[in-house]
Amino acid sequence: MTATAQTPTVPDLAALQARAAERAAQRAGGQHRLRGHIVCDGLVRIFKTEGVEVVALQGLDLVIDRGELVAIVGASGSGKSTLLNILSGLDTPTAGIARVGDYDLLDLSARRRLSYRRQMVGFVWQQTGRNLLPYLTALENVELPMQLAGRGGGRRARRQRARELLDMVGVGYCADRRPGQLSGGEQQRCAVAVAVANDPEVLFADEPTGELDEATGAEVFAALRTINAELGVTIVVVTHDHAVAEQVRRTVAIRDGRTASEVRRTARIGADGNTELVAEEYAVLDRSGRMQLPAPFVEALSLRDRVRLNLEPDHVEVRPGDRARNEREAGA
Ligand SMILES: Nc1ncnc2c1ncn2[C@@H]1O[C@H](COP(=O)(O)OP(=O)(O)OP(=O)(O)O)[C@@H](O)[C@H]1O
Ligand SMILES: [Mg+2]
Repeated sequence: MTATAQTPTVPDLAALQARAAERAAQRAGGQHRLRGHIVCDGLVRIFKTEGVEVVALQGLDLVIDRGELVAIVGASGSGKSTLLNILSGLDTPTAGIARVGDYDLLDLSARRRLSYRRQMVGFVWQQTGRNLLPYLTALENVELPMQLAGRGGGRRARRQRARELLDMVGVGYCADRRPGQLSGGEQQRCAVAVAVANDPEVLFADEPTGELDEATGAEVFAALRTINAELGVTIVVVTHDHAVAEQVRRTVAIRDGRTASEVRRTARIGADGNTELVAEEYAVLDRSGRMQLPAPFVEALSLRDRVRLNLEPDHVEVRPGDRARNEREAGA
């Protein structure tokens, strides 16, 4: 699983860290203040275990606007959970920029980290058992974070809000049951209500439908969409489920610790008068002008080592370099 992060294509670590630090210093000066609710720029996370270094994120760039609902997809080990752990304040990046609202995640005091995690973000885990306390009812589970944060209005107001949230995600009928008396999908929908109990600005979910079948997963996803639409919470959800990824306007693919490509879907009125979603795939171009060609394109033209670029009036052509062309012609 760690193989992708340890291949020889990994750039020199010292150079990577230096570059990220340089950028961070530049941006912190306010010269290039990046817009967006969530901003990652040149984000690096290196894990060191028993002398081995694993570069889980190697200069990841990502900007998410307030109120967006974004799906993150990518192969196992590509860095999705690492990214979410950083953004939710559970882990600290090695270098780069990670900012959510006014919080700079590379420079958080213990006190500010606590307020960030209590007030700014909510989290839903893949493991249903990790999201809810087993000895509390669904309603009490939603009330608890409000109580811990000292949310005003008294017990009745908290209870009423808890009921409203459970209704919103479609499990109002589960209010008085304990997690053990709920299906996996019902538990995850309750977990969504718990995660937004304190009105966070952002909700992160790491494969929240990973342990569920497709139909139940779709219900949980519908709950996330409702929360996004009704409360305006920015949502970032990691998923392996293509059916889920296809239901959002924006899907970001991570490869080897970087954002590699993005699919954006826009609504259009079709010939039959019905609204249809049109998907367009984009490669992500970083600030230095680097991008990743999709693997099928590379294979189709046997592109290797060097390619030729031509600037045309409205596009750029990528042609095989001499070696790949010679090999192809020799093989033909
Ligand atoms: N605490 C850690 N210590 C050492 N290496 C780690 C740690 N956490 C993650 N890694 C490594 O970082 C890389 C990215 O891991 P991550 O968990 O972010 O991947 P992922 O995209 O979430 O994968 P999956 O789809 O399997 O959940 C992997 O090579 C992983 O082994
Ligand atoms: Mg993961």
